[in-house]
Amino acid sequence: MSVTILIGGQWGDEGKGKVIDLLADRVSMVVRSQGGNNAGHTVVVNGREHRFHLVPSGILNPATLCVIGHGVVVDPRAFLQELDLHHADGIATDNLVISERAHMVMPYHPVLDKLGEELRGDDRLGTTFRGIGPAYEDKVRRIGFRIGDLQKPAFLEKKLRFVLRLKNETLTRLYGAEPFDESAILDEYLGYAELIDPYIRDIYPIIQDALQRRRPILLEGAQGVMLDIDTGTYPYVTSSSPTAGGACTGSGIPPSRIDKTIGVFKAYTTRVGYGPFPTELVGELGDFIRETGGEYGTTTGRARRVGWYDAAVARYAVATNGIDSIVLTKVDVLDTLDRIRICTGYRSKGELWDHPMANISHLKHCDAIYEELPGWKASTRDCRSFDDLPPACQAYVQRVGELSGAEVDVVSVGPDREHTLVRSLPLAA
Ligand code: IMP
Repeated sequence: MSVTILIGGQWGDEGKGKVIDLLADRVSMVVRSQGGNNAGHTVVVNGREHRFHLVPSGILNPATLCVIGHGVVVDPRAFLQELDLHHADGIATDNLVISERAHMVMPYHPVLDKLGEELRGDDRLGTTFRGIGPAYEDKVRRIGFRIGDLQKPAFLEKKLRFVLRLKNETLTRLYGAEPFDESAILDEYLGYAELIDPYIRDIYPIIQDALQRRRPILLEGAQGVMLDIDTGTYPYVTSSSPTAGGACTGSGIPPSRIDKTIGVFKAYTTRVGYGPFPTELVGELGDFIRETGGEYGTTTGRARRVGWYDAAVARYAVATNGIDSIVLTKVDVLDTLDRIRICTGYRSKGELWDHPMANISHLKHCDAIYEELPGWKASTRDCRSFDDLPPACQAYVQRVGELSGAEVDVVSVGPDREHTLVRSLPLAA
């Protein structure tokens, strides 16, 4: 067994946490590769809900080493709060490490995130206000702070003096907001340093050792392909790379060592925030799916927009990431529908498209082309294997796979571990 990547194929919230949890006890290491506490993975074990934002959900298995890779941006305050919650739930975190190269969300990042959104007005993106975009901006601008900097107080202080000049200039002059106080930030972050210190590692030797021993590794992506800074619906995207490529750069594992790429897709589509969504359902049917699927954000509680399964998006995600196995989640949410649609492509300005176009305005105004399938009108909750599913449901799953360009190996019909129907275990052999 070797390296498997798991990513979201849509706009995030596909149910990746549940799949990671399913696979985590079969691998010796789970590496989270990008994003920050904008992500929210919910895992239900024995009817009990566990919420993850920064910590890989593989932590539920004490034998799995969980790594927060250097592609992640870590808000130390949020990280420590999350640890407290896990500890209160009886989850040990001795098997957790953070790359010293991972960047930190600083106190001014969420403030700048919010002010930036307000400044955009009607063109706002609908970010999570967690400061993720501003943290990645600083990383690329080479004025970011890394987790390892917590172990170098003098360096932290000197750099903060310089960076805070830039930040306070922006805050006060551009936004007319309050400046940040250098010593307050320094005290706060040096306080975190002590608590986070036991988790900080150079992950390079850890990962190299696992690769050399051919230990099974799972790379955990957050968000989804359509929120990718390059391949997504820019600018209505997040600021990282939730793709297979991003999993490699965010962990330091080379593409040549990847054996399998799993794409997680919902049996319909959801997105949070603004931006084009060709299969969006507004009205009663959309409300019904939102309520049935409990489509409210784990991180922000926001109502998610919902729509039909978009196979043009899925094909694009499969093709640009080399997805060779699909996990289809929340199939049970469609149990009561008479007819179910799958989008196969778009019509825009008289042209047919089999993939999402880069032109955001065209994607926003295009017409989705649909194929319609009969609903199965029966509960799938008690099904425990693919063959137990009603024939019309099996046909739907089959068609999703055909139109998306990869086999559907796992179907999920409910939130618990027992609701996961595995046709073929999608891990690298
Ligand atoms: P940001 O990542 O907070 O900058 O938000 C940018 C866009 O990505 C917004 O539309 C968010 O709603 C969306 N987004 C960020 N993280 C997630 C996620 O985990 N699930 C779904 N959408 C997300």
